[in-house]
Amino acid sequence: MTRLDTITEPRAAKSAQTAAERFGVMERQELKYTPAVARETAHLYERVRNHIPEIEWPVYAPYVHAINRIKKERGAAILAHNYQTPEIFHCVADIAGDSLQLAREATLVDEQIIIQCGVHFMAETSKLLNMEKTVLIPDAKAGCSLSESITGADVRLLKERYPGVPVVTYVNTSADVKAETDVCCTSSNAVAVCESFESDTILCIPDEYLAMNVARQTSKKILTWKGHCEVHERFTAEELLAYKEADPTIEIIGHPECHPDVIAVCDYSGSTSGMINYVKDTRPPRVLLVTECSMASNIESEVEGVEFVKPCNLCPHMKRITLPKILDSLLYMTEEVVVDPAVADRARLAVERMVNLKN
Ligand code: 13P
Ligand code: SF4
Repeated sequence: MTRLDTITEPRAAKSAQTAAERFGVMERQELKYTPAVARETAHLYERVRNHIPEIEWPVYAPYVHAINRIKKERGAAILAHNYQTPEIFHCVADIAGDSLQLAREATLVDEQIIIQCGVHFMAETSKLLNMEKTVLIPDAKAGCSLSESITGADVRLLKERYPGVPVVTYVNTSADVKAETDVCCTSSNAVAVCESFESDTILCIPDEYLAMNVARQTSKKILTWKGHCEVHERFTAEELLAYKEADPTIEIIGHPECHPDVIAVCDYSGSTSGMINYVKDTRPPRVLLVTECSMASNIESEVEGVEFVKPCNLCPHMKRITLPKILDSLLYMTEEVVVDPAVADRARLAVERMVNLKN
């Protein structure tokens, strides 16, 4: 059974058939692995051959082929987060990156349709920055435990409790929360954003561990919230030390959503793209990525000679995005991300201040 076989998703609405006809893909079962599809996707298979057995490629290839054709006809750009599965990251994405890169790229793409392969807050961020464009997410249920940990009403209460204290909000939040925010941050710029304020005290919410990791790198007093990433909170310092004990040469690199005790045993900590660049630049012989599983799979083929040790924690929300759902998005223009314009205007300011920060 392949990953694609395990997925059932809502099929076409009535109007969809017209779209399917127009773009020449009638029904999923009609997607065939023809000699032309095999030939035209062969170079893409080379990028994922370590992760998808050759015998399974005929299941993936027709989707890859159809998505790449239809996205051009539609005038759509596919933005994918570093945690997307290899067939999305390597075979259909136009742009892949961390949260900050995707937010920046969303402002630069020429296409009128953006398909966000990631979780809902990422698609919402793209929409905020491109209100005139159509932003689609292949599965609107792709959430995030951090984003769900806090509401706009919670932030208003915090502001009443700490009047005048700048509010720095992690980009992993809803538009409602961003609308109550002074400046957003991502894991790659959180320290710089907190330090950009004159105030000695900063509310850095909702990721408690990110805030604690920021607090270690600044003299400012950092107040936070009890939100956690359900993927990164599972790593422990003990398990990492056991790896180190078994092989003292192993390099451990971790995402700042991990507990500070975990980050303390890491050789490097940074955003998902920061971690990728670290591996590409330093080429450690053995490396353990303390983050979501797909990251290692995605970069393995790009860094020969590096052995990846994978304590695999999956993000179930990121994994809701699949090739069949991306194809449905393109055919039927689903699921469209909509943000109340009044909320969007306020939320956009916080995101733009972050995007424009020089770091
Ligand atoms: P990055 O900003 O590092 O890509 O992280 C986003 C995320 O959701 C990590 O869990
Ligand atoms: Fe949210 Fe964690 Fe998944 Fe990132 S890995 S999207 S922070 S739940």
